[in-house]
Amino acid sequence: MTTNDFEIFTTFFSDYVRSFYSADPDDQKNILLKEEHTLQVRRTIRQLAIDEEFGPEGVLLAETIGLFHDIGRFPQYARHKTFRDALSVNHGALGAEILAGQKVLRLLPPDEQRTVLNAVRFHNAFALPDLPAEADLCFLRLVRDADKLDIWRIFLGFFEGGKKEMTAAVGLDLPNTPGYSKEIVECVLKGKSVSHSALRNVNDFTLLQLSWVYDLNFAASFGMLGENDYIARLLALLPDDGELGGIKAVLNDRVSLIQKTASGKRGCEAWSPGK
Ligand SMILES: [Fe+2]
Repeated sequence: MTTNDFEIFTTFFSDYVRSFYSADPDDQKNILLKEEHTLQVRRTIRQLAIDEEFGPEGVLLAETIGLFHDIGRFPQYARHKTFRDALSVNHGALGAEILAGQKVLRLLPPDEQRTVLNAVRFHNAFALPDLPAEADLCFLRLVRDADKLDIWRIFLGFFEGGKKEMTAAVGLDLPNTPGYSKEIVECVLKGKSVSHSALRNVNDFTLLQLSWVYDLNFAASFGMLGENDYIARLLALLPDDGELGGIKAVLNDRVSLIQKTASGKRGCEAWSPGK
């Protein structure tokens, strides 16, 4: 793909999002939250692709995926007034449907169209799907990392108190009540991913976000996780009781192990332009 293709995509995206702008201040805040998230994910995925040495075409393809990964959020909110997939639609599947239906990607070769569509469709899947093309899995892993890195940024920006103007949708509209679910703590200690359906309050969502450390793929992503001190900052939001002390040790061990073993490895060896 070319930079010209990418400019056409950014124009399409801006026009599409603008069509969902609302006169209602709360709705508009939610739309702008996702528009801003998209711009940040685009920036983050670009940086990850550069750090992982994807090459110029790979960086553009990654940026396209960042730009479009949450396009389903806008009609999801317009139709259902929520970002909770469990209460509305799967926004990844909806996004892929929109891109395919409107033939937005027709400028790209068929294999690149497939890679973008699969990345959008599965960026929010609970576990990685079994996709036959290595390139698709590679870019899917990359967008899942960029998305998580930005969700950590937004969530901490809100719950650390820096940005009061943000909306409660940042915490998935969950109640900010004391306590947390023991089952979720168990999952984190065992290195298992936590399902959204198990969440009862904001502390549970904080624990779920800590479990994402097990679902982060690239050395560059672990670099950004460390630079921003996300684990310690998320842990600081949780109740200061003895039971959660174990989690801190487990997560820090996991991250330092990965940082050690991943150093020196770069990118998706399987991906190269035109493959
Ligand atoms: Fe998403």
